[in-house]
Amino acid sequence: MKRISLTQHLIEQQRLHNKIPSELRLLIEVVGRACKSISHAVGKGALGEVLGSAGSENVQGEVQKKLDVISNEILLEANEWGGHLAAMASEEMETIHRIPNRYPKGEYLLMFDPLDGSSNIDVNVSIGTIFSVLKAPDGMTEPSEKDFMQPGTRQVAAGYAVYGPQTVLVLTTGDGVHCFTLDREMGAWVLTQKDIQIPADTKEFAINASNQRHWFPPVKRYVDEMLAGTTGPRGKDFNMRWIASMVADVHRILNRGGIFMYPADAREPEKPGKLRLMYEANPMAFIVEQAGGAATDGNQRILDIQPEKLHQRVAVFLGSKNEVERVTSYHKE
Ligand code: AHG
Ligand code: MN
Ligand code: MN
Ligand code: MN
Repeated sequence: MKRISLTQHLIEQQRLHNKIPSELRLLIEVVGRACKSISHAVGKGALGEVLGSAGSENVQGEVQKKLDVISNEILLEANEWGGHLAAMASEEMETIHRIPNRYPKGEYLLMFDPLDGSSNIDVNVSIGTIFSVLKAPDGMTEPSEKDFMQPGTRQVAAGYAVYGPQTVLVLTTGDGVHCFTLDREMGAWVLTQKDIQIPADTKEFAINASNQRHWFPPVKRYVDEMLAGTTGPRGKDFNMRWIASMVADVHRILNRGGIFMYPADAREPEKPGKLRLMYEANPMAFIVEQAGGAATDGNQRILDIQPEKLHQRVAVFLGSKNEVERVTSYHKE
C-alpha cells in the first residue's frame, strides 16, 4: 500500500466523496496531533509522573487516574483555539466545555473518552482515546448539553487511538474505516490499512465473565452456546478474550472478527452496563458498521438511540454481523 499521511488521505477522501470540509479536516488533524501527545505521555510510564491516581473522582463515580486528567487537558487545549468547534464533552467532565470567548467558534461538537481502559494504565496494557464528532444544530448560538443529544447516525466522524506496541489511529468519516500507524521518527500518522472489513462470522467473543452470575437469560444462553465447545454450533475452537480496554478489544475485532459484549445485568437494570453512549458506544458503533459489522444494545441499533443524558450508559453488543444479530435475536425471543 502506498504510504500516505493522514493529511493526504483526508484531502483525497474529500476529493472522492466531498464529505470532509476543511474545518472537519482541521478538527481530525488536531485530534490526531493530540493523540500523538497523549501517546508520548503514556509512553513515559513511571519515568514521567503519569501513573497512579489523580486523587479525584469523575462524574461516573470513578477515581480518576493521572492520565485520565492529563489526556483530557491535552484534548481541551489542542481543540480550543482552532475555530472549528462550538463545544466539547468528555467522560472526565460533568458538563460541556464551551470554547472561551477569546477564540472563534466553529460548527462542530467534539465528544471524547480521553483515556479508555484506565484500569490498564498502571500495568502497561494497551489503552486508548475514543472520539466522536457531531455538527452543531443550525441556528445554535450558545451551545448547551441538549445540542449534543443527537443519535449516533448524525455523527460526521469517529475514531480511536490505541497506545499499544504500535500507536494507531482508526478513523471513519462515513466512507469506510482506515487505520494509521504513528511513525515516531517523523511524528506522522501514516496510512497502513484502508477499508477495513470485519468478518461476518467468528468464534471469538469478548465479555467480562466475572459478571456471569448477574447476566440476564439471553446473554447466559449465548455465552453457554459459545462455551459448549464440540456440542455447540461453533465447535470446539472458540476463543474468549477480554482486555478491559474497549479500544483494544474493538481493534482486535476490526482485524480478525469477534463479538464484544458489555450487557446490562441484574445488579443495576436502570443503569444498562458500564459503557457510555456518547463517547464510547456511538463512535465504536459507527466504526464497526462502516467496517461491515453490527452494533446493538440487545434491542436496537446503537446508532438509532435518541440520547437523553450526556453520560448515559448503554448495553453494547458489537462486532461480527452474524453473531451480533444472533445474540440480539435471543433478546427478542
Ligand atoms: P474507561 O477506562 O474509559 O472508564 O473505560 C473502561 C471501559 C472499557 O474500556 C472496557 O471495555 C470496560 O470499561 C472494562 O470494564 P470492566 O473493568 O468491568 O471489565
Ligand atoms: Mn472508556
Ligand atoms: Mn476513559
Ligand atoms: Mn473511566
